Amino acid sequence: MSTLLNVKKDFPVLMNNKDLVYLDTAATALKPQCVIDKLDEYYTLYGVNVNRGVYTLSYQATLEYEETRTLTAKFLNAKEKEIVFTKGASNGLNMVAFGFGMNYLEEGDEVITSELEHHSNVLPWMEVCKHKKAILKYIPLDSTGRITIEAFKKTISPKTKVVALTYVSNVMGYITPIKEIIKIAHEHGIVVVVDAAQAVAHMKIDVVDLDCDFLAFSSHKMMGPTGFGILYGKYKYLKVMKPVEYGGDMIDVVEKYSNTTKDAPFKFETGTPPVAEAIAFKEAIQYIEKIGYNQIQTHEQLLLNYMKEQLAKIKGITVYNMSTETGIIAFNINHAHPHDAATIFDEHQVALRAGHHCAQLIIKWLECVGTLRACIYIYNDYHDIDKFVEAVKEAAKYFEEW
Ligand code: ALA
Repeated sequence: MSTLLNVKKDFPVLMNNKDLVYLDTAATALKPQCVIDKLDEYYTLYGVNVNRGVYTLSYQATLEYEETRTLTAKFLNAKEKEIVFTKGASNGLNMVAFGFGMNYLEEGDEVITSELEHHSNVLPWMEVCKHKKAILKYIPLDSTGRITIEAFKKTISPKTKVVALTYVSNVMGYITPIKEIIKIAHEHGIVVVVDAAQAVAHMKIDVVDLDCDFLAFSSHKMMGPTGFGILYGKYKYLKVMKPVEYGGDMIDVVEKYSNTTKDAPFKFETGTPPVAEAIAFKEAIQYIEKIGYNQIQTHEQLLLNYMKEQLAKIKGITVYNMSTETGIIAFNINHAHPHDAATIFDEHQVALRAGHHCAQLIIKWLECVGTLRACIYIYNDYHDIDKFVEAVKEAAKYFEEW
């Protein structure tokens, strides 16, 4: 019989807040002790800059830093030269839109996206399309709010040049059939950009198997440090993609009126990077790999099924994504603004997110002002779900009487 993981003890925030029920992993995951220790190791033992110094400590820091690229490439089944260090998923997606899309698109070309996207995977393309007089198109969602292959096929045209889609929705938790979409897109010569910010904590990503052209995610959503992320790009695209930032470290030769940059991925990494964060990201990868994605998914599914069973019995609430296959539940307490309802959860020490989740298009599609969102992860247990359900019941009762 499948059992739950028992990893709460690895997370100092949970050890220091014994009554906390943390269901806001979709916003950011808690960090295990090994990640915190690695940050501390950098600042305590060799806290100097990378790629610049000609002394032993700087070599040591650079070695640790570049090891992250090697490990990340292995983690994604990519090549090291395809791994760009960024500040996070938003930064990576902006780099693709402004550094690649801005030069690749021509007037009248089409970029396809969806109403399920986080703002970071729509707004950069909206701006680039305006600038290039290209057309932004949305795949019509099905009645449950999902992206389907049939709808995608109907949306593409000979003018479609880029498809930018989320792998897992940060509001609905739905998994996009991205591999099939990429296959179809490539048959039409379309470049595919994948926002994997929500996916990476929950499922194995193999960029060769997916055959995506670009893929971005943040370290902090997979238990690594904040302020750091990864952009994967096929080398043939990274080679032609332009940097959106110029300055220190990314340059080769500088003359008074011209310059040449380093090759990819280094031409995209300007200035002093988040060194400690990059180094400590290795620990997050190793921590996830030690547990294994199969075990992570089994754990999440057990708790998700339990949560769904409990929620189905409660009157006075609306769940928007009962069919979700990942541990993200979007819901509302009837007659209550999500921000008002959230105060009841806070009283129960249940941490979740309320609002539009930086994805206003899907909130409009759902025809509400925002939702509450609970996200299950490896450090949650049945007791957490029970406390959450208790808070849902109390909120539903309170607002029913309101
Ligand atoms: N993008 C993050 C979320 O969905 C912050 O909450």
